[in-house]
Amino acid sequence: MGRDGAWNEGGTGAAPTFFAAPAVPRTAPHGTAEAPLPLIIDSDPGLDDALAIGLALARPELNVLAVTTVGGNADVRHCTENALRLVHAYGRSDIPVAEGAAGPIFGDVVRATEVHGEGGIGRTVLPASPASARPEGAVGLMARLLAESPVPVAIAPVGPLTNIALLLRLHPELAGKIAHLAIMGGSIGEGNTTVSAEFNIYADPESAEIVFRSGIPITMLGLDVTHQALLDLGSAERLRALGTASGRIAAELVEFAIERVRQWYGGDSTATHDAVAIAHLAFPDLVSVASYNVRVDTGSGPARGRTVCEGLPIRMQRYGLAPNAQVGIRIDGVRFEQILLDAFSRLP
Ligand code: RIB
Ligand code: CA
Repeated sequence: MGRDGAWNEGGTGAAPTFFAAPAVPRTAPHGTAEAPLPLIIDSDPGLDDALAIGLALARPELNVLAVTTVGGNADVRHCTENALRLVHAYGRSDIPVAEGAAGPIFGDVVRATEVHGEGGIGRTVLPASPASARPEGAVGLMARLLAESPVPVAIAPVGPLTNIALLLRLHPELAGKIAHLAIMGGSIGEGNTTVSAEFNIYADPESAEIVFRSGIPITMLGLDVTHQALLDLGSAERLRALGTASGRIAAELVEFAIERVRQWYGGDSTATHDAVAIAHLAFPDLVSVASYNVRVDTGSGPARGRTVCEGLPIRMQRYGLAPNAQVGIRIDGVRFEQILLDAFSRLP
């Protein structure tokens, strides 16, 4: 303890408790404007999902093949309608949208409507899209796109991992067509939904464990890195000053998120979690990553949904653990906001 019982006051406290594995070269693919990375976004729009989708559609390095939805922040019917209206607002109602799982494979349904609003995107009302969700559904659409693609396709799951687990169980032969999973979820350290678990993992731990065991190359963009990608009311003003309709939408979403954060604990910024997963695929040098073995606690105790991240070589050797994911550890938050502002200046 530091003076007056405060931990680390004056920097005289204990060293961090979790092992900070060293940064390593990324394994995630990244696209270029000449050869954009084919990408499916699986999401639960969702305030930060909305920014992530806009960023993906604005970047020439990414070729968004579809946006699929899963119940998470809000009921899946809201997430699907939000996804349709968002891609329409961003000028891309041609992007296929398909609805996936309403809830987890096992366990209670968990929502984050207290953060995102009952409908999932705060008080923002978007014009209806002329398009409808594809009747083949999220897993069917993902499977068809993977099968049809001449090259492996990256997937950015930025909601609970139920659809991805179902895809792997229903179409195991397609696992080799998944180039990489850039997952927003988990945390080396504490969670945000419980002290142990981050929301996307907590909402469906069993599906997350299926995905982390799959052997598919994974980058886990967890809270450790997404909490460095903070936007504040100044960010919202800068988004609105872009003068684009999409910039105004993004500003509204950020302001709503901050309103909720302020109500809860007087915070003045919001972590743009999901957009970090997209930015990692578009910008090869933005996010630093380290190698970990990640397992998910699927028990029923206080650690349910925790991503147990082991990076210490001697313990990995002792317990027979091999790395199965790269985990985001560092991002330049100022550059990240500039990337978002540039993206939303490119959208209508
Ligand atoms: O914990 C953050 C994650 O949970 C983000 O994906 C956010 O959209 C919510 O789904
Ligand atoms: Ca999300």
